[in-house]
Amino acid sequence: MKEEELVEAEARLRAEFNRWAEAGRGEEMGEEHAAIAAGMLAAMRFAPTDKILDLGCGAGWLAGILADKAPQGQVVGVDVADEMIRRARQRHVDRENLMFVVGEAEDIPWDDSFFNHVISIESAYYWPDPVKAFREIFRVLQPGGEVRVLINLYQENVYSHQWRDKLAVATHLLSGDDWCGLMAQAGFGDTRHSRIVDPRPVPVGYQSKWFKSAAELGEFRRLGALLASGRRPQP
Ligand SMILES: C[S@@+](CC[C@H](N)C(=O)[O-])C[C@H]1O[C@@H](n2cnc3c(N)ncnc32)[C@H](O)[C@@H]1O
Repeated sequence: MKEEELVEAEARLRAEFNRWAEAGRGEEMGEEHAAIAAGMLAAMRFAPTDKILDLGCGAGWLAGILADKAPQGQVVGVDVADEMIRRARQRHVDRENLMFVVGEAEDIPWDDSFFNHVISIESAYYWPDPVKAFREIFRVLQPGGEVRVLINLYQENVYSHQWRDKLAVATHLLSGDDWCGLMAQAGFGDTRHSRIVDPRPVPVGYQSKWFKSAAELGEFRRLGALLASGRRPQP
């Protein structure tokens, strides 16, 4: 992707997600994504000194959970939308091991080889240049460190495809194998993908613009979110 195209795409993302933040959707997404996040976190082991990046952190709900898991470590939330970051800072004003920075996945404002985990929830399909982003993730991870990308919009979950026409910004529609391939292009090893099922029952009387019916939402949750992961190899 050409540099000027990337700059334009990031500006569109910033404007759109600043609107989401102002409408309170950063906090709403925390409720919506909590179940799949819990499914992913349950299978992970954390050390108190871990250094964790939450990439595309939105209003910072996940970063707060991660900061509890690494009380002597450092958690950093990065997001392209400055209004998301402002709200995340406001929410976590007293947390010493947690900070939030405005930045892009394709140009992560952090030192080389710092983090041992990079986690990103419901953000990667918006990244204009995912290979560039994975190269950046590779750079900021320590050797042996792991990236995990958890997304609901992907090829194998057909119920999510309709979102692409409803979203105001461009998205990628890729399969689990495609996401692993992008990670491999950036140098990651041990790439794999799996599903995280959302176990919540569908609310009675459910209606929204994102699914045509309650039955569709149920099928979407049953198919689950895609978790793609990779490891920066040891030298
Ligand atoms: C659907 S929201 C999810 C936010 C949060 N992870 C959550 O689960 O609530 C997607 C977030 O990714 C951010 N984002 C999208 N593209 C980005 C990029 N290229 N670099 C950094 N952040 C990005 C958006 O600003 C937005 O806050």
